Amino acid sequence: MRSMPPPPLPLLCSSAFVFLLLLLCRPLGANGRRSTPPAASPASPPGAPVGQPVQLTAAAVNGTVASANGAATGIPAVVIEVERQPHLRRVLIAAIVLSSFAGVMIVLAALYAFLLWRRSRHALVDSKDTQSIDTARIAFVPMLNSFNSYKTTKKGAATMMDYTSLEAATGKFSESSVLGVGGFGCVYKASFDGGFTAAVKRFGGETHDCEKEFENELDLLRRFRHPNIVSLVGFCIHEGNRFIVYELMENGSLDSQLHGSSHGSALSWHIRMKIALDTARGLEYLHEHCNPPIIHRDLKSSNILLDSDFNAKISDFGLAVASGNHSKGNIKLSGTMGYVAPEYLLDGKLTEKSDVYAFGVVLLELLLGRKPVEKTAQSQCQSIVTWAMPQLTDRSKLPNIIDPMIKNTMDLKHLYQVAAVAVLCVQPEPSYRPLITDVLHSLVPLVPMELGGTLRISPESPCTTQKHSPC
Ligand SMILES: Nc1ncnc2c1ncn2[C@@H]1O[C@H](COP(=O)(O)OP(=O)(O)OP(=O)(O)O)[C@@H](O)[C@H]1O
Ligand SMILES: [Mg+2]
Repeated sequence: MRSMPPPPLPLLCSSAFVFLLLLLCRPLGANGRRSTPPAASPASPPGAPVGQPVQLTAAAVNGTVASANGAATGIPAVVIEVERQPHLRRVLIAAIVLSSFAGVMIVLAALYAFLLWRRSRHALVDSKDTQSIDTARIAFVPMLNSFNSYKTTKKGAATMMDYTSLEAATGKFSESSVLGVGGFGCVYKASFDGGFTAAVKRFGGETHDCEKEFENELDLLRRFRHPNIVSLVGFCIHEGNRFIVYELMENGSLDSQLHGSSHGSALSWHIRMKIALDTARGLEYLHEHCNPPIIHRDLKSSNILLDSDFNAKISDFGLAVASGNHSKGNIKLSGTMGYVAPEYLLDGKLTEKSDVYAFGVVLLELLLGRKPVEKTAQSQCQSIVTWAMPQLTDRSKLPNIIDPMIKNTMDLKHLYQVAAVAVLCVQPEPSYRPLITDVLHSLVPLVPMELGGTLRISPESPCTTQKHSPC
């Protein structure tokens, strides 16, 4: 809410001055005093007629003279003197008026200075917010200019977008613009006037879960600022439908890259390591840099999105919760089969280590090219963790279970290292799992410098010596 501008100082001063003048101009009583209020004062002798000026008795006068002569306050002596010399009284009144006026002026000036200071501080905060929004969405600025309604919170803002423009940008939510389908509905590609593109997720239905996830995601996304967290463009609510508009991630999700029609062929070993590192950076931001820390609760390959350069960003914060702000009873057990940590599934125990477990599963998907849960020949479900664990720790077997798309394209030492990290992340006992910061530090040396790590690729590396290597 914007604060009202402070009234100009001259106006305040002149009003105060006029007020004082009015006080001075009030008629004086017959004895030269200002007429007293009609009510009897405590000094009034009992039974004195109301409204009559009070006569000072000799005793009273004597009493005041006595005090003037040295005992108590000294003020009564002045009063007696004033009573005797009318010009002194006028001077005293003038002095009192002037000093009161000066006092009022000082108080008003201080008040005015305070109001000005507060206003300039607000302006500074506003401009800082706007600056960060503009920096994060620089590509969308021309498009956002056409949507001028902001829903703001202390830490961020989201643009409320017009339904008709979303409808136009998605070809009336046509099938041809569908990017993917999730639990709550479709995600559409939107092309706005001027060539700006975005992804629009429709939260269909009016179920409580749908509304809650929409609010939760919007609330969190407008506060996050990180290169590995998907950016929020805006939102829209129209006739029971809710929409969130995100930056468009041209290469879709890691899930669609690994398990879709291309079967991971676009993802070299180094790109996979970069995706793992980017994801760890996004998670580290949530766990270590947010206050309170945020637990994503639904980390999986379909919630890791890839831009045109295969920079990975974490998406879908509908289920995310603040760490510590939950107990067994107050949140619903949620997540996706194959990614949920055993202690959360069995005991409802939720910590940042649950996200580390899910990260370990994603790492296994990247290494092995397999889905987190697969059907066996006997049409039973088998988790990637139970299937891979014995082979991950056996160096002779490990190279044989690697995704054929990247087999023999990496330094074996690096493969053992990454497999060891994955094994630690999926430990059944949460305290044996590393913190995401430790995971991140172990991945940095495996990612080439040009992809955001610290690895210098030598000419002898398998990636540079092998023909047709996807590295
Ligand atoms: N910002 C985006 N840019 C490009 N494609 C996106 C974007 N957001 C989502 N998608 C695509 O839409 C698909 C559906 O996403 P959505 O988040 O609705 O569901 P999900 O994550 O696949 O599954 P679930 O709803 O069970 O979590 C994603 O897998 C992805 O391929
Ligand atoms: Mg998703």
